[in-house]
Amino acid sequence: MPPNLPNPSTPSASAASAKVASHPHGTPASPAGKHPAPPCTLVIFGAGGDLTQRLLMPALYNLSVDGLLDEAMKIVGVNHGERETKAWADELHDALQKFAADKASTFHAGKLDDNAWNWVAQRLDYIAGDFEDDGLYRRLAQQLDGTTRGNVVFYLAVGARFFKPIVERLGRAGLLKEDRKDGGPFRRIVIEKPFGTDLASARDLNRHLLSFAKETQIYRIDHFLGKDTVQSILAVRFANAWFEPVWRREYIDSVQITASEVIGVEERGNFYEQTGAFRDMVPNHLFQLLGMIAMESPNSFDAEAIRNKKAEIFEAIQPLTPGDVIFGQYGQGPAGVAYRSEPNVAKDSPIETYAAARVQIDNRRWAGVPFYLRTGKRLAARRTEISVQLKSVPLRVFRGMPIGVPTPNVLTLRIDPSHGTSFDFNVKTPGPVMQIGAVQSSFDYDAFFTQAANVGYETLLYDCMLGDETLFQRADSIEATWAAVNGVLHPESGSAIPVHGYAAGSDGPAQADALLAHDGRAWRALTQTRPGKTSQ
Ligand code: BG6
Repeated sequence: MPPNLPNPSTPSASAASAKVASHPHGTPASPAGKHPAPPCTLVIFGAGGDLTQRLLMPALYNLSVDGLLDEAMKIVGVNHGERETKAWADELHDALQKFAADKASTFHAGKLDDNAWNWVAQRLDYIAGDFEDDGLYRRLAQQLDGTTRGNVVFYLAVGARFFKPIVERLGRAGLLKEDRKDGGPFRRIVIEKPFGTDLASARDLNRHLLSFAKETQIYRIDHFLGKDTVQSILAVRFANAWFEPVWRREYIDSVQITASEVIGVEERGNFYEQTGAFRDMVPNHLFQLLGMIAMESPNSFDAEAIRNKKAEIFEAIQPLTPGDVIFGQYGQGPAGVAYRSEPNVAKDSPIETYAAARVQIDNRRWAGVPFYLRTGKRLAARRTEISVQLKSVPLRVFRGMPIGVPTPNVLTLRIDPSHGTSFDFNVKTPGPVMQIGAVQSSFDYDAFFTQAANVGYETLLYDCMLGDETLFQRADSIEATWAAVNGVLHPESGSAIPVHGYAAGSDGPAQADALLAHDGRAWRALTQTRPGKTSQ
């Protein structure tokens, strides 16, 4: 990301903001180097939805507490169903209070600050309307009356079927017109995933959006990129001398990328029956992690410099074939009922809740280094992490000594729920005999930094208002990732990928173990303990 420099043309507060509360604690101290985003109206389509309640509003609240929103900021909620703005605000307030009280929630706000909430609440407005009704967009146009200098972010927190109709109507109503040449107002659209369901539909969606807006106006979200621990991958790689020299095929044996969850499909049976684990996680979240691990060093932290390097990696992925993937579906097990017994799931559903893949990158740095990806619901542990395993060392120097086979060096970047980095390596065990013991050195974010109130959408919203596209997907990258998996979604043979069973609460199907065993490797255990045993 470019440094978040103050926008010289941003007035501190517009005249319109005089009627609403100013920042609750005077001018709050913004995090170092950060300045309030330019004034902007955030229009949220899907104001009554889960995403708005659970993530967008907590993120806006946190941004306001940090002083990163302009005094003139407005938040317009759009949804079907008549209701007063106050009723919407009350509902959001109740939800925030609940999250604040819940120690396990990602909100981390502790207690909800009334003043801070009032600051947000006074900027809320609600418009009822059908997303496909042109009248809604005429009313919206009247609402966008220039109090935020005409700057608007349209956030599509809606089901994917509404992406096209909303953008088309925004375009036809003239709401996407911008002329940035003279520092004129910006008009931006934020699109949630799923961005298409395969290459053809993603291309079609891109074409459609780009006929109403420019690429620079479209912010395609992958919420994994909002996570500090994901952004930190670039810091670990490029701000240290340790790693980059060995970050290549000559030294790296393989990479494992895991996003395992203990939850099942919960209330999302309808969505999941259309999507499955592979589409839901692999070409988007897991590929984004792969992109951060595998991309070349950009010349700067400029958005395009980073996005170009990531795009190169996605283009270099060898198209996956059905032989590169294993699908599974959870049956009844220690962690609960079978997928087919979940609400809104067909009794004979063929949908996968687990996917593993072997990915190869065809470039000079990575050729021959397999990237093993796996994700699934109802697995033994919640664990999102990347493990980079180095090649084994030549053991000749230890000949004649009872050292056994040393454990390979593995660098693990822990994304969620534990945040940090661990390194597995070998030392001599204490005592008169030369023996090798595997140990682990570990860094935990919590031990070094205060846990910031952060639901993961703060940076994404803030960057979008600033016009920083680093953490958002460009059209070409989205299409390259779908192109890489098209052979799995539409196998040439026409036959569906087999779906193997696994018990709810296990490590996944045995066939996924076989995928790695075939290459002479094994998955890292999901319920892993720290190494500490002497290898004899
Ligand atoms: C979403 C998927 O995009 O990511 C969900 O649709 C999944 O199925 C979620 O549970 C995982 O995200 P996180 O941030 O909880 O790891």
